[in-house]
Order: sequence, then C-alpha cells, then structure tokens
Amino acid sequence: MNLLEGKKGIIFGALDDKSIAWKVAEKCVAHGAKITLTNAPVALRFGTIKTLGEQLNAEIIPADATSLEDLENLLSKSMEILGGKVDFILHSIGMSVNVRKKREYTDIKYEWMQKTFDISAISFHKLMQTALKMDAVNEWGSVLALTYIAAQRTFPDYNEMAESKALLESFARSFGYHFGEQKKVRVNTISQSPTMTTAGSGVKGFDEFFGYADRMSPLGNAPAEACADYCVTMFSDLTRYVTMQNLYHDGGFSTMGMSAKVLEG
Ligand SMILES: NC(=O)c1ccc[n+]([C@@H]2O[C@H](COP(=O)([O-])OP(=O)(O)OC[C@H]3O[C@@H](n4cnc5c(N)ncnc54)[C@H](O)[C@@H]3O)[C@@H](O)[C@H]2O)c1
Repeated sequence: MNLLEGKKGIIFGALDDKSIAWKVAEKCVAHGAKITLTNAPVALRFGTIKTLGEQLNAEIIPADATSLEDLENLLSKSMEILGGKVDFILHSIGMSVNVRKKREYTDIKYEWMQKTFDISAISFHKLMQTALKMDAVNEWGSVLALTYIAAQRTFPDYNEMAESKALLESFARSFGYHFGEQKKVRVNTISQSPTMTTAGSGVKGFDEFFGYADRMSPLGNAPAEACADYCVTMFSDLTRYVTMQNLYHDGGFSTMGMSAKVLEG
C-alpha cells in the first residue's frame, strides 16, 4: 500500500520508540511519504529521535512548539528540505506540569496550568496559525492532533490535561473552519486509547487504568501501531471531506457503559 505516495509531512512528538508519533512516522514513510521530524530541544537531548531520523532518512528540526519563532523556522526549513508545501502535520504533544510535580487537581498551581495549556493545546493553534500565514500546507492537506476522552468524561487523575484536551479539540473545530474555507485544509483530532508511553505512564494509576479500559473495550485498547494506521488514512486522499471532527480510536470504549469483563473483575 502506498497511501501517501508523493506526500510530504511534519511529525511532532517522537521521543522514543514507545511514542505514538514514532509509529506514525514509520508508517507514513512506509506508505511513501517524505517527512521531517521535530521535537523540543530538550527532548532531542534525552530521547532517541536521532535513531528514527537515521532509520527513515528524515531530517530532525528542533522546535519548542510554544515558540512562534521556532514554528516559523520549522515550517520554512521543512518546505526547503521536502521541496515545497506540506500535505500533512501530526501534533503529538502533551505535558502537564502539575501532573509531573504531583499536584492534586484541587491544589493546582496556576502558572503551571498555563504552561500545560500552552504546551498541550495552544501550541496547536500556534502551529496552525503560523502554517496558514506562511501558506505552508497544500490544498486538501490534513492536520491532526492526538487527544484523549478525558476531554468529555471525568478521569480524576488526568488532572488539568482534561481541560488541555478539551481546548485542543475545540481548536481543531474552530481552526478547521478557517483552514477549510481559506485553503481547503482539514483539521481533526484522534482520541486514542490509553497507550504505554512516557506521557501516558506519567498519569497516576495508569497501569490499573490501562487494564480497566482494555476490559471495558470490546476490541481491547487500540495499540499505538493501529493509531498510526488511522493517522495514515486521515493523511491520505481517502478522507478528504472529514474535517473538524474528534475521531475515537479506542476499541469501542467511548460508547460503553459496562462490560462483562469489567463486572467479572
Ligand atoms: N499515551 C496515552 O495513553 C495517550 C492516550 C491518548 C492520547 N495521547 C496523546 O498522544 C500524544 C503523544 O503522546 P505519547 O503518549 O506518544 O507520549 P510521548 O511522551 O512519547 O510524547 C509526548 C511528546 O510531547 C513532546 N513535547 C513536550 N513538550 C514539548 C514542547 N514544548 N514542544 C514540542 N514537543 C514537546 C515530548 O518531547 C514528547 O515527544 C499526546 O498528545 C498525548 O496526550 C496519549
């Protein structure tokens, strides 16, 4: 299958080989795309993205996703390297300062909350605004961000990330209107099952919760590789009229009330 033959894209957020973005990058290239990779400068030092870059013959361009200057540089370098405007972008970024510092939801430090929103959600608006102003995305291009169902339902230990995801999904709808009208670019979020990654396992009680979600979902938790397959279809020409949607990729979890496996314990 070569669903992305001739397409060019930018993948944010591959930290190590557990990262969802890592699998997406591998699948996009396997489907014929040419990509650039990006992550925050600090993640380049601590993570293993260099290995992925070598494996996929993809250039790595450091960018803090909260910095407009870094985003401009990333988009212009990517267009230079890839030989023109891009067709797809994956935003796969999440970080909560209050979760990292183990602050409870009812004892939030607000400067940290603002930083969390900036990194996990506002960066998505910044990315799209910069790309629109620079005219960096081809017509019928596809922009995706990864999200989680805590935006709609309460998962207490997800803390301020719940509001980050609600904001992220709202940006996809609102910006999706403007990007669609002005450039025929589509914008969506994929709401993924709990996945064993650095960001995922930072949430308190993640292992138990992972097992609960797996038993609640008739198909089981969706693995990162399957999420990557879904991203490829959303970047492909087969989904040209899907925009401003929050798409569940969760083995059925979001529609369940109770399951036999959960009742059995
Ligand atoms: N793991 C899960 O259970 C799960 C479930 C649903 C959605 N998601 C979402 O998937 C996305 C990817 O997370 P993951 O689970 O692959 O974990 P991950 O830790 O591998 O990826 C998170 C990435 O965000 C990057 N990042 C943090 N601050 C940044 C900044 N200032 N600028 C640029 N990049 C920055 C990190 O370097 C890292 O690469 C996140 O949006 C996450 O919320 C994860």
